[in-house]
This record gives sequence, structure tokens and C-alpha cells, in this order.
Amino acid sequence: MWQNFPLFPDQASTLAGDVDALYFFALGVAAFFSLLIAVSILVLAVRYRRRGPDQVGVPERANFLLEIAWSVIPLAILLFLFFWGARVYFDLSRPPGDAVEYFAVGKQWMWKFQHPEGNREINELHVPVGTPIKLTMTSEDVIHSFFVPDFRVKADVLPGRYTTVWFEATKPGRFQLFCAEYCGAEHSRMIGRIVAMEPHAYQAWLTSGNAGQTVLASGEELFAALACNTCHRADTNVRAPLLTGLPGSEVRLLDGSVTLADDSYLRESILRPAERIVAGYQPVMPTYQGQVSEEQLLQLIAYIKTLGAAGPAAGAPEGQP
Ligand code: CUA
Repeated sequence: MWQNFPLFPDQASTLAGDVDALYFFALGVAAFFSLLIAVSILVLAVRYRRRGPDQVGVPERANFLLEIAWSVIPLAILLFLFFWGARVYFDLSRPPGDAVEYFAVGKQWMWKFQHPEGNREINELHVPVGTPIKLTMTSEDVIHSFFVPDFRVKADVLPGRYTTVWFEATKPGRFQLFCAEYCGAEHSRMIGRIVAMEPHAYQAWLTSGNAGQTVLASGEELFAALACNTCHRADTNVRAPLLTGLPGSEVRLLDGSVTLADDSYLRESILRPAERIVAGYQPVMPTYQGQVSEEQLLQLIAYIKTLGAAGPAAGAPEGQP
């Protein structure tokens, strides 16, 4: 609808229309009331102008009905906007269950992407049309922000943390990607594009490129190379929590608190294992800080998340001394 209207970016994702509808509704409400107030001021100023030098004003009497009306009507409009906005916000922030996970790492001053199939790209991300894509993102250095106006998605990308955006492209095309957080001298050149392709074209693109290893295979290889499995398994003398079923579960810690084993917790446990020790275990794990890159961390975590969701074997060793 806004393709030829230069003020507005293309609507190229499933949620772009929802965001715009909300925006235009809010804009319409603001324009309507601004106009109403401006016209009222003019009309009333002319109508009740002083007509003679001896004319005196009449004191205004309180009109409770009017006062209630101008309190309740704006309240109703704002509440309506609030609930509508909350709904759009939730839709934007919760990827659908069938979303495919891609990975992004921001650094001064480029975007590095990896497909689940293993393909890597810099400043360009090819995606299939009609598939929800969940991007798990982190930064190697400072705060960046992933912003694709045509998809109406924007999320900060922070060092030491994982943030996500999700989108489903609705049509093929090349869509501008910006860094929307000032991140240094070349911030304005930290741009790229999302290339949305029809599924068959995307498959052809995937296989034409040098895929290398899938993210999971890389993660599995790292898991073995870093010897994670020498401790994190049942039949060993070194007591370390089993990782099976750990991701996404709740973990009881040494200090009695409970934490959610999300991506950030897994990341922290690899880099600074002494920070949050699982109850019943000794802080014997060495740090892997400096030995694994952000990309490798993403691969490791993606692999650990496939270790099955079986039982409460993970962090909560009930009955342990
Ligand atoms: Cu990265 Cu601005």
C-alpha cells in the first residue's frame, strides 16, 4: 500500500501491516484531537471576543458531565491503544514455535550471519519467503542494533547477552539492514541487506554456496574438542551436572536460588563457570574464556540444546548430599 509513498518503507513481513495499522491509528487520533483543539480555539476566540470596552465576562460554572466526558473518553482511547500495542508487541517479541533459528554476531563494523545449514555470510542474509526466522544475536564488542525497516523489526545486539528478533518475509526482494545504535566511527557504514527468496531459489542458493558444517555439527565437534563430555556425563568420577534436558529448565544453585537455564546462563557457565554453580557440585570447571569465539559459543549452545529434554537429570541432583 505504501510502496510508492516515499516516507514509508515497504511492508515485507507478516507483522509489518499490524505495526503500521497501530501507528496510523495513533497518528489519526493525534491529528483528530490536534485539529479539534486548534479549530475550537479559533472559533471560540472569535465567537466570544470582547465586543465593547465596558463588556465584562461571566464566571464559568462547573459542568461535571463535560469534565467526566473529557476524562473518560481519552482514558478509553488510551487503554484501547495500550492493549492493541501490547498485543503487537507480544506478537513481535515471541517467535512462533516453528521458527527456524539463524545466528548473528555484530562487531565493529559488520554483521556476521550463520544459517542452521552452516552457510556463513557477512552483511547479507539470505532467507526463504514464508518461513518464520528467529535470529539469535550477540555482539563481539559494543552495543549494536539490528534494524530492518521493511520488516518493522529492531532489536539491540549486546555483548555478553543474547537477544532475538523474528520475522517472516512475505515477498522476495532485497531489504535494507541498518545498525541502529551508534557504535563508533563506521557506524553509518554498518549496513547490509536481507535477501528474501522463494523457497526453491533459497534451496538452490544454499546448495550453491560453501555450506561447510551445519551449526549443530560444529557444536558437536567443539563439544568433543573442548572435552566437555569427559566431565558432563554420568559414568565419570568428575562430578559435573548432566547437560541432557538442561536448557530451558530451572536450575537450583549453590546459594539456594533458582535460575532458568537459558542461552545466557549456558554462555556464562562456559565462560565464567564459577559464577553460578549448580547446587551439589564443586566449582571445578575451568573457564573457556578466550578459547571460544562468539560464533563457537552459539554453535555449542545450539548443540547442547539438542541433548534431549529427558527427565530432570540436569541441574537439580535431588537426593545428593
Ligand atoms: Cu553497529 Cu552502529
